Amino acid sequence: MMTQKAKRLGFRVIVLDPYPGAPAGQLADSQIVGDYHDGARLREIVERCDLTTYDLEGIDAHTLGILEKEGHLIRPGAALLALIQDKYAQRNHLARHGIPQPEFRAIEGEASAEAFHDFGYPLVQKLRKGGYDGRGVAVLRGPEDLTKRLPGECYVERCVDIDKELAVIVARSVTGDMKCYALVEMVFDPRANLLEMLLAPARVDPATAQRAEEISMATVESLGGVGVFGVELFLSTNGEILVNEVAPRPHNSGHYTYEACVTSQFEQHIRAVAGLPLGSVEQMRPAAMINLLGHDEGGAGPPKIDGFAEALAIPGVIIHVYGKAETRPFRKMGHVTVLGEDLDEARAKALAVKDKLRIHAGGLR
Ligand SMILES: Nc1ncnc2c1ncn2[C@@H]1O[C@H](COP(=O)(O)OP(=O)(O)OP(=O)(O)O)[C@@H](O)[C@H]1O
Ligand SMILES: [Mg+2]
Repeated sequence: MMTQKAKRLGFRVIVLDPYPGAPAGQLADSQIVGDYHDGARLREIVERCDLTTYDLEGIDAHTLGILEKEGHLIRPGAALLALIQDKYAQRNHLARHGIPQPEFRAIEGEASAEAFHDFGYPLVQKLRKGGYDGRGVAVLRGPEDLTKRLPGECYVERCVDIDKELAVIVARSVTGDMKCYALVEMVFDPRANLLEMLLAPARVDPATAQRAEEISMATVESLGGVGVFGVELFLSTNGEILVNEVAPRPHNSGHYTYEACVTSQFEQHIRAVAGLPLGSVEQMRPAAMINLLGHDEGGAGPPKIDGFAEALAIPGVIIHVYGKAETRPFRKMGHVTVLGEDLDEARAKALAVKDKLRIHAGGLR
């Protein structure tokens, strides 16, 4: 989606992706096939480009740092990426800047029952590095959950009594100009720990929305980065807004901006990293968004979509199919944005789409 917007603005795009014919590679001028931790391929793309950015954080930040020192333009910068890759370092950074977040504590070495007991239950154990889509996060309600403990370098944080999970997309330009999109609300699928539905704007009172937006802006300001940032927040049952984590890139919770806002988060990111002025973040229509995941019992293989025509027949439904060659249970294969006259209408239609669409193996190669 960033590639589409970059192309529309007249840029030429080279994509690095491990899968030949990857979704972005299909749209770009060319693709380098390689892993995000392959130093030689990273060097190749950075040297071939005037400016390099990314849409995931699992990249070799050390190599990016070396390339940056050699004078290559990489945005957001390698030091910021490294900070975000280490969730414990990120927590310390936010603490130094007075950003409200769950109470947390370092765990030295392997996590011991004593260290957990000392911190107190219920707690959330998080691996410092490498987690995504909830992998790397374990909720322990009490000592009986110790078997769920994750191996590896970790820290613990207080388990927040969550009323709602919220997010704000914030853009920051080269000149430090900042704009933030409306607060959105995320509903999670507890089985897969993936976003089930997103509602934009969030159904919260205006004072809470304003506080969430201020905290998100302060968070991105403290990082000093250039680009678009997804700030994940918790609204606790006692009304507190706490920062969960920051993504230094367009975020799943901002996909709806593609259709619902004057400037999408994808174009906004390209504008920011290219040193161009930020665009309007105005939302034109209430929106709901659902991810299209490979069906949990749908097997692995070339995808086939059931209910496609029926879903498309609903007015206001916009389907994005990413063009991945293979589906797998819970793999993100696309998403659907639904625009409504009001949020209830968008939500109801999104639920209907969720019911109709099913992606499973069995398509043509
Ligand atoms: N301190 C906490 N208290 C309660 N729940 C939490 C806490 N931290 C995380 N969670 C729950 O676990 C989910 C995943 O946590 P987190 O965002 O840190 O992991 P992740 O692997 O980066 O996930 P994603 O890729 O989906 O962002 C959160 O969305 C939330 O539901
Ligand atoms: Mg998260």
